[in-house]
Amino acid sequence: MTASALLEVEGVVGGYEGTQVLHGLSLRVGAGGVTALLGGNGAGKTTLMKTLAGLLPVRQGRIRFQGEDITERPSNERVHAGLVLVPEGRMVFPSLTVRENLRLGAINPRARPHWQKSLDHVFHVFPRLLERESQAAVTLSGGEQQMLAIGRGLMAQPRLMLLDEPTLGLSPLMSRQIFELVQRLVADGLTLLLAEQDVFQSLNAAGRAYVIENGRVTAEGPARAIADDPRIKQAYLGL
Ligand SMILES: Nc1ncnc2c1ncn2[C@@H]1O[C@H](COP(=O)(O)OP(=O)(O)O)[C@@H](O)[C@H]1O
Ligand SMILES: [Mg+2]
Repeated sequence: MTASALLEVEGVVGGYEGTQVLHGLSLRVGAGGVTALLGGNGAGKTTLMKTLAGLLPVRQGRIRFQGEDITERPSNERVHAGLVLVPEGRMVFPSLTVRENLRLGAINPRARPHWQKSLDHVFHVFPRLLERESQAAVTLSGGEQQMLAIGRGLMAQPRLMLLDEPTLGLSPLMSRQIFELVQRLVADGLTLLLAEQDVFQSLNAAGRAYVIENGRVTAEGPARAIADDPRIKQAYLGL
């Protein structure tokens, strides 16, 4: 392991009560750029994301973040350390306004003192959210809700953002905009672990990729090599 690894996952076994989903999964995310998590429906990507965020327990194995063992740490402490999940399905608070949703993203003690500055930054990145800051989140379009979910994640001042299926259910145009945003956040220095159904786009954005099947890593490497792998092409790119 080199010193630049932000996240190291070693042999993680986990899942839900009565259902084991992750069967000894290992991966690492270096600082900077996008690491893509590929795999079909039900492969275990969301389960892994929730486990990394501390929302599901680890039965075996270890998770290290910035060199520290966080396997047993509660989820709020992981957010405080800079490990921030933007969940599948967005999970914004529907009856709260855009601004209130964003403010809630900054409740960890590290981010809270800077919430106003973070808010300005999020509104700068997402002018659309500024236009709608007093609207209830439920009135936003799917794409806008995704922006809000990412914005809320940014409010927590993440060192690593776990971004789960950001383009799910969005139009091709909106999906492209979300990917442009991802690229911009990465250019600004954010590190991302990205689970995405759009394999073509995510391999395009990623430096490295992991393929997950049945809760195990079955292929890994530079995104370009994964994109050229005939097995991957056939299974995920329809080529
Ligand atoms: N709340 C749950 N309780 C039990 N099993 C679940 C739950 N959520 C997901 N699963 C199962 O875990 C497996 C992996 O699902 P998931 O992690 O959501 O996959 P992916 O995100 O790759 O599509 C699937 O077999 C799914 O049915
Ligand atoms: Mg999922």
